[in-house]
Amino acid sequence: MTTRRRFLLASASSLALLAITRSATAAGDDADLEALIARMTIEEKAGQLSLFADPLRLASRRINPDAGPSMVDSGLAQRIREGRLMGLFNGVGAADGRALQRIAVEQSRLKIPLIFGADVLHGLATVFPIPLGEAASFDPALAERTARAAAVESTAAGIHWTFAPMVDIGRDQRWGRVAEGAGEDPYLGALFAAARVRGFQGRKLSDADSLLACPKHFVGYGGALGGMEYNSAEMSEQTLHEVYLPPFKAAFDAGALSTMAAFNDLNGVPMMAHHRLMTGLLREQWRFRGMVVSDYTADRELVMHGVARNERDAARLSILAGVDISMQSDLYNQHLPSLVAGGEVPLAVVDEAVRRVLRTKKRLGLFDDPYRSLDPAAQRRDTRTPATLDLARESARASIVLLKNDRGVLPLRKTGQKIALIGPFGADTANLAGPWAPFSDMKDAVSLEQGLRNAMGGRATLTVVKGCDPERTIRGGIEDAVAAARDADVVLLALGETQDMSGEAASQTDILLPIEQQKLAEAVVAAGTPVVVLLRNGRALALEGAVRDAAALVVTWFLGTQTGNAIADVLFGEVSPSGRLPVSFPQSSGQQPFFYGHRSTGRPQTTAKDPYWKARYRYVSHDALYPFGHGLTYASFRYGDVEVGPGTLPWDGTITLAATITNTGRREAEETAQLYVRDRVASLTRPVRELKGIRKLRLAPGESARVTFTLSRAELGFHDEQMRFVSEPGAFDAWIAPSATAGKAATFELLGPAGAS
Ligand code: NOJ
Repeated sequence: MTTRRRFLLASASSLALLAITRSATAAGDDADLEALIARMTIEEKAGQLSLFADPLRLASRRINPDAGPSMVDSGLAQRIREGRLMGLFNGVGAADGRALQRIAVEQSRLKIPLIFGADVLHGLATVFPIPLGEAASFDPALAERTARAAAVESTAAGIHWTFAPMVDIGRDQRWGRVAEGAGEDPYLGALFAAARVRGFQGRKLSDADSLLACPKHFVGYGGALGGMEYNSAEMSEQTLHEVYLPPFKAAFDAGALSTMAAFNDLNGVPMMAHHRLMTGLLREQWRFRGMVVSDYTADRELVMHGVARNERDAARLSILAGVDISMQSDLYNQHLPSLVAGGEVPLAVVDEAVRRVLRTKKRLGLFDDPYRSLDPAAQRRDTRTPATLDLARESARASIVLLKNDRGVLPLRKTGQKIALIGPFGADTANLAGPWAPFSDMKDAVSLEQGLRNAMGGRATLTVVKGCDPERTIRGGIEDAVAAARDADVVLLALGETQDMSGEAASQTDILLPIEQQKLAEAVVAAGTPVVVLLRNGRALALEGAVRDAAALVVTWFLGTQTGNAIADVLFGEVSPSGRLPVSFPQSSGQQPFFYGHRSTGRPQTTAKDPYWKARYRYVSHDALYPFGHGLTYASFRYGDVEVGPGTLPWDGTITLAATITNTGRREAEETAQLYVRDRVASLTRPVRELKGIRKLRLAPGESARVTFTLSRAELGFHDEQMRFVSEPGAFDAWIAPSATAGKAATFELLGPAGAS
């Protein structure tokens, strides 16, 4: 009995040792750190692997640069003096941070500086659109700029490390954390992951405004079964490697030097104990040299997962798997010393984890200047600057997606119109930031109503009626709303989710609008005035009835500080909408999980006339209401045929695919051309389409432009049944199209290697 267990234990330890020997050689340039490690006690080492939420500053959530020092006499201060703390997270403020850092570098034995982390997902004080919204811009360069601005604001406020970007793929919209990522597609996800890492980290990690990135949650968290938060994920190795891992790889290739281990188990192995992925893939195969932090108390949760006998065992499994830092549970502090003394965890494993932490602190410049990013004057100077607020407006505008615009009801005229703003989110200011913006300063945030008023400047009439609360009726609310609708030339109907309906721990069994809002919409649309529905949402929604059938539909996500101004810019035509859906909007909730890049089934429904014995539901086909990539502008565009040149892609060469796109509308607008491919015949079923390229082009009326994309065989490859990455010669379809379901395919052929028959 003990033999099997011992054997497993021994083999995990020796694998961990193997990884250490390899990277220790590479760490030869850090002799100073080696000397430091040699002086550390096992308690100090465990301390460098233990991270805690900042209990005092978290409670106040203040971002006042002059606050503090608040906790010099607390028990935490004593812990810092004893060198038993790696750092703190989710406390913000340069002055407090400085005071705490002073304790570490002046009063602790080894004077190792603390690191301060925080969940800065889409801005600190200034709030940019939620990451899912910003992904709708289909513009990674924009995400890089907002991440940079967030880094400047955060580092000024005493933060060195953000637990972002969140790069989980979200294919089930019941899962609330879809809001934090870049949507359903691995290609788009990888582009945004890399861009955000570049933006956060800036030019050099040691710069005072560089924010260490932490792509999370490694890995498969978005695959939670049934879309239920914290649930197990079950997926093929192929799906793991082709869908869930690529954004992480892109983030590490862009230089991210930390990652967070996820809460979930993957095919039965909790990620916190997943040696094969955490060490084998991450460290040995990908050569990742940064540090891995657990999610909040996730090591302790190995007990509830039923793979650890007790907390001590949980600490042992986590450190052996490759999780360097224990967040919040204190298990490493409590158990690593005795686990090492008892020979259950080799000292070398602990040393290597400490080495990764110290090396990262060194790269951040904390040993040279422990007070970097802890300057109250910088916090005053760099918080909510006019340039950052402008960027918040620009990014919010670019995130808005126009799904539908019947009879050109949009854009609105600014003068001489009677506009009724109806719905729970018209005047609302409590749901502008989105679910994960704990440090936002929303005191001057612009509500939808305020944004409209700013734009109209009194030249049109605006009547504002709530109609209902987000999840409750208001007595007489519907009657008032209908009266306002009847009296107006156009209705703006502001519906959707409160910010606590999406985000962490906010899974839903369906993705419908709350019934109270649906009833309001039915009554308002029946009044006969043209209705523009403005959706506030952290996920794709299943739109039904009057909402689905309204004259115009606009997806506004949670847009942050500049919400109202940005929406007004689009509604009044200051800018043409340009956003595209990063998640498919299904016809019905019950289609979840639902995403465009599903594998080919044997019985696809190819025509609407042929509903029987096909892959579909009784009342609903396997199609989107609005597909991934969809989004209208105030112009219209014609796509020419896809040109494939000679039609062949040589094995070691490239192929250029091109199409001419013409603005056939009456105003300038930005179009987003998308390249999709499909492998016609392969040894495994392949997605019906896969995104392989994006081009944004701004065209004046009547203007044409030719877009080109280049592909090589690597981009057509996949993992075969034995998990070998292969490209298989043969025919591929290619689309250059405005969405994942639009366009006409052309075909090209990947030729085999020269000499192969
Ligand atoms: C739990 C969340 O899953 C994670 O994303 C976050 O970074 C930590 N809490 C810390 O706040």
